[in-house]
Amino acid sequence: MHRKKVSFEYTVYNGMEELPAADLELMKAAIAARDQAYAPYSGFRVGAAVLLENQQVVIGNNQENASYPSGLCAERVAVYQAGARFPGVALRAIAISAASDRISVDTPAAPCGNCRQAIAEYEQRQVVGIRMLLMGATGPVYECSSLSDLLPFTFGRANLQ
Ligand code: THU
Repeated sequence: MHRKKVSFEYTVYNGMEELPAADLELMKAAIAARDQAYAPYSGFRVGAAVLLENQQVVIGNNQENASYPSGLCAERVAVYQAGARFPGVALRAIAISAASDRISVDTPAAPCGNCRQAIAEYEQRQVVGIRMLLMGATGPVYECSSLSDLLPFTFGRANLQ
């Protein structure tokens, strides 16, 4: 037997103003989407902006429902919209911002497990990893070079062959 170790490196920007110009624009699109979230139950607003290989930006925000489980996270609204509008076009980066009506969110919000699984499906269909830019309402931005960093041992279509 032997033991293995999984680790990854990520970049910490002290604030969104430190981002390169193109990433700053993407994060601003995520923030604008976040501010349009439909989150009357949790008061937790999330926005996501997907940059596609064809330079289009597709946004999403969380859509809640009186039947709570029927709601959907911002990240899945965004990537499913990207898949619907631009089928087969690779995803280059996803910026995510979260804010709350009740508490200050000054640390980055990472996508939930279901969203990681959904994004992984897109990443596995392309060669290059999807860069993830994560932020709260204020504070640092974390940049991960690939979704797979956030979801080791991913279940994917290779498991079904
Ligand atoms: N939410 C997201 O939109 N993305 C995440 O990655 C985590 C949670 C939403 C779902 C729900 O509307 C609210 O945040 C509180 O969980």
